[in-house]
Amino acid sequence: MASDSSGGEFVFYDLKPPAPDIRKEICEGLSLEQKAISPKYLYDRRGSLLFETITGLPEYYLTRVEVGILLEHRRDMSHMIERDSWLLEYGAGSGRKSRIVLETINPAAYVPVDISSTHLVESARQIHREFIGLAVYPICADYTKSFEMPAEMPNASRAVFFPGSSIGNFTRDEAEDFLRTVAGVVGANGVMVLGIDTRKSANIIEPAYNDSRCVTAMFNKNILQHLNNEIGSDFQLTHFDHCAFYDEQEGCLQMHLVCNAEHEVSIGNDSFAFREGETIHTENSFKYSPEELKEIANRAGFDCEAIWTDRKEWFMVALLRNSR
Ligand code: AVJ
Repeated sequence: MASDSSGGEFVFYDLKPPAPDIRKEICEGLSLEQKAISPKYLYDRRGSLLFETITGLPEYYLTRVEVGILLEHRRDMSHMIERDSWLLEYGAGSGRKSRIVLETINPAAYVPVDISSTHLVESARQIHREFIGLAVYPICADYTKSFEMPAEMPNASRAVFFPGSSIGNFTRDEAEDFLRTVAGVVGANGVMVLGIDTRKSANIIEPAYNDSRCVTAMFNKNILQHLNNEIGSDFQLTHFDHCAFYDEQEGCLQMHLVCNAEHEVSIGNDSFAFREGETIHTENSFKYSPEELKEIANRAGFDCEAIWTDRKEWFMVALLRNSR
């Protein structure tokens, strides 16, 4: 085991999540009536950098408001999470928020879980350097499935931190199943700290996904560049325009790439016809009312012990406890 002078140990657990057959997956998505590419392909190196930039844009209120909520309510949060808990964070991207929660709950160990190991190990090492004495156990795994916790992990109480409204990428049914899986991971009395965007007027949500500097447009189109690099497709980025709109009834923001000229795209021996005006659906971002959040949390086996929000209710941070 790789201990060092800071006291807490650092061990990387690579559970080797099976690599998807990307080409097959993309071809299937492009064969649908409504063409679709999974939002997970937004995050190559450039995509992750663009997303970082998005989180700092004035129109993208989500990150700013969530950080404000975490800072404002950290005292309450610290009272509700047991000392010496183990903090698991799903998705290893949110440096600023991780630090706030680590300082707040002072866990015995920090366990970031991510499907991609590169960024995971880098950011985990950085946290390990900064938090003297904290044990850090990054796990490379697919957290949407149940994964095996390393055998060395003691039976300490567990808290899962899932910020950023990442849950919004799931459909409402998938979100409920996911929460049920997390309830199983944290066990009886374990908690989840969940950051989630609220339902509100399209006038607030749409600008967050149509920023004036067009960073979100670049982020969206970069999914095609990523695929060109990864599977040798020949998408021409100039043939697609960014589009994002919010359906208030559904409570869902959809992101699409709109084809602006009839053409064909090849992926190896497969070729896909694009009509002018047809779209590739690249992301869903579901929003929740506090009542909807409580409902799916309850159905998944959680009690909703707190919902913290900002004055305008633009974002929520919920503390869920496995009540069984
Ligand atoms: C990381 C899924 C929460 O839906 O707001 C930002 C991704 N897409 N701008 C979101 C995203 C376009 C983001 N999530």
